[in-house]
Amino acid sequence: MYRTVVEVDAESCRSCRFCIDVNRCMSSTQCIGCLSCYWSCPHTARKIRLREVKEKHVNIWINGVKYLVPYPSTLKQALESVGIVFSKPGSYKLSSPCNLGGCWACSVIVDGKLERTCVTPVREGLSLKLDVEEAEPLRIVHGPQPHRVGGKGTPWWEVGIGYVEAAIWVAGCNLRCPQCQNYHVTYDNVTDPVTPKEAARIITLCSRRYDTRGIAISGGEPTLNRRWLIKFFEEAKKLNPDKRLHLDSNGTIITEEYVDELVEAGCNNIGIEPKASRLETYMKITGIGDRELARSYHENSWNIIKYILDRYSERVYLGVGFAYNREWMTLDEVEEIGDKVASIDRELQVTVLDYFPSFRRRTLSRPSVEEMLNLKRILEDRGLRTVIVQTSIGHFGPVKESRTY
Ligand code: FES
Repeated sequence: MYRTVVEVDAESCRSCRFCIDVNRCMSSTQCIGCLSCYWSCPHTARKIRLREVKEKHVNIWINGVKYLVPYPSTLKQALESVGIVFSKPGSYKLSSPCNLGGCWACSVIVDGKLERTCVTPVREGLSLKLDVEEAEPLRIVHGPQPHRVGGKGTPWWEVGIGYVEAAIWVAGCNLRCPQCQNYHVTYDNVTDPVTPKEAARIITLCSRRYDTRGIAISGGEPTLNRRWLIKFFEEAKKLNPDKRLHLDSNGTIITEEYVDELVEAGCNNIGIEPKASRLETYMKITGIGDRELARSYHENSWNIIKYILDRYSERVYLGVGFAYNREWMTLDEVEEIGDKVASIDRELQVTVLDYFPSFRRRTLSRPSVEEMLNLKRILEDRGLRTVIVQTSIGHFGPVKESRTY
């Protein structure tokens, strides 16, 4: 039989140790075909190959029933081989939205302990329990750190002197942006995960220490692990009843019902990044090659913006953001984005990020300050009243033009 495996292309490898220090292989003996290292290598030095192998199997127990499953394989592949279906991301059912080992949404209980199915190798005799309700959800978290400018949803008038938010960043993302600006977090599968309660505790301490008005969670993509995220907001709200509780999201999988639950849990500030107006641009930015999947992500991001505004304009401060670089976006498309936002609400806060060289797009040029200020003018000419642009010398907002770092 043939199996998908990943091999190192010695010529492309730069020995940067990313695949050891940040996104490490969980199998000590042989490739299990999880593809995590393939997606995370900054130098694209991992190549997918089909290799002929002798078919082998091991016995495992799933909910107390014995099954024969292929070996070597991931727990996810083993579960799928016996007909267990992974659900759409963002639900409470078993799903595998990142397949990188970062979000922990794919976890089941393995020999009494929560474990990720997407990157954990199958072994003879493992005992799996699919109902994880009794276990505290886990997720890899970076930070907390105080932040001077916040994210795309941070109310612009709060940004100025001092720190505006205490922030954490969670690992795991469903997008594969080749210019990911936070890839050392997104692709982290090594750091010990924490419970929502612990994450809420540490971010609260950071917020108190730096006296911030808001606390924020970004990523990676926070919405991938719903059980974890809802509990995080519930805990954060208990500890910070009067603070702004900010979620930064790509908006790809968040449903109306999910938004309702987030708001109930205490989230009162959301930033959504629909990234582009055109589907082709969206695919280039996100690295999602499957057109239908990209279309559904893209449409969902725009639709959820409308839903949040229509339903929660009194309870949630909403901002939207997109990343600009002339490599993937024309000024015509910037105008289109302006028109699209203006058709929703001219007052809606729009933040444009100047994407700089990073991850697999290290040859990009960072947009100049003049370019970004031109974008601001273009968007304002389309009728938008709350435009902020990120530049190499700081953020320029609607009224004050402040140097923030
Ligand atoms: S899908 Fe397994 S950790 Fe995200």
